[in-house]
Amino acid sequence: MSGSNEPTIYKGLVGVYADVSAVSKVMPETNSLTYRGYAVQDLCELCCFEEVAYLLWNGELPTAAQLADFRAAEAAEREISPSLHAVIKAFPKDAHPMDAIRTCVSFLGLEDPEAGDTSDAAQRRKAMRLLAKIPTCIAAATRAAKGLLPVAPNPSHTFAENFFNLVFDKVPAPEVLKSFDVSLILYAEHTFNASTFTARTVTSTMADIHGAITAGIAALKGPLHGGANEAVMHMLKEIGSPDVAEEWLSTRFDHKALVMGFGHRVYKSGDSRVPTMTKYAEKMAEVVGDRRWMETSRVLAAKMLKEKNIHPNLDFPAGPAYYLMGFDIPLFTPIFVASRITGWAAHVFEQGADNRLIRPLSYYTGLEQRAVPPMSAR
Ligand code: COA
Repeated sequence: MSGSNEPTIYKGLVGVYADVSAVSKVMPETNSLTYRGYAVQDLCELCCFEEVAYLLWNGELPTAAQLADFRAAEAAEREISPSLHAVIKAFPKDAHPMDAIRTCVSFLGLEDPEAGDTSDAAQRRKAMRLLAKIPTCIAAATRAAKGLLPVAPNPSHTFAENFFNLVFDKVPAPEVLKSFDVSLILYAEHTFNASTFTARTVTSTMADIHGAITAGIAALKGPLHGGANEAVMHMLKEIGSPDVAEEWLSTRFDHKALVMGFGHRVYKSGDSRVPTMTKYAEKMAEVVGDRRWMETSRVLAAKMLKEKNIHPNLDFPAGPAYYLMGFDIPLFTPIFVASRITGWAAHVFEQGADNRLIRPLSYYTGLEQRAVPPMSAR
């Protein structure tokens, strides 16, 4: 916006630092991302998702004893109430699982034994309950939509084993579990993205964590944010084969249409999470014996870079990875929720610890003040 008395407008808040944060750091100049100082690709190779969840919430990696306690606390909270199971059964069969999990988290807020307590200690206990119960809700909703009974959580399962078992009633091979765990670590946290900023904004009003996470889920659903991992797989299926990928993309360019899974607000020369996720998506293609989606992806990425200089983001390899793991496409963004609850909660704790109401300004461009005309004169 120009003009001497007009403020500078940062549309989409591009380039605006809204607050400080010690949870994670994006370094676009090196395409890198750290959680509490650790490179995310190192966490993927050396840690499990539960260790990373502990790290995000506590600032340090757990000792073996701390990890065991954390896992036990999560495993103990996986069951959901008969009332919530009844609510899930009443969802329309064609409801999107993101809408289902948004509603479940809101309902969990109604039932929470500490609903009125927004102290840091209570927020942390509620976050643990959400981390544990979100997979149960996602799986129960997707199974109910298919007319299947829910599977009871098994407290001896790891977080990844539990997720698969709740959805499919079986635990897959270790290499599938590892690829899934890596995806959870990569999706866990990413500074002030739209859903995290939404969760922080809700928290800044001193509202409860269930409200903040419900709002975060609503923001994550959109295809410009988390919904892109589903959109990527729809796109790959529409293309169908690597042989026609270049031609398909040219038509997209002709229509000046977005290509899902490409581009990023912060990274402009690559996303550090992509090589790690691609490596594990490739492993899934080997396990399943179907290279079609990864080959199609390779052709798209090469042409996007050559002709538009736009790099893929994490959703690009995550979409086919989840498809190859056997998940239905509408479950991809809910899986993102099951992971990102860790990052959202870390930001809710941080916002609450040094809070100031988030309330920006808007520059008014509407009509000047005028008199309300009587009905007869309208
Ligand atoms: N496909 C085609 N063109 C794209 C593109 C994509 N995925 N991403 C960016 N561009 C284009 C923009 O249209 C713009 O072109 P213009 O200058 O001719 O208008 C140019 O690249 C610069 O875009 P930019 O300002 O950097 O985008 P942004 O920061 O406002 O938006 C996204 C970032 C993520 C919303 C955007 O890249 C996008 O919509 N990507 C697809 C959805 C997606 O994968 N989302 C997941 C994000 S992690």
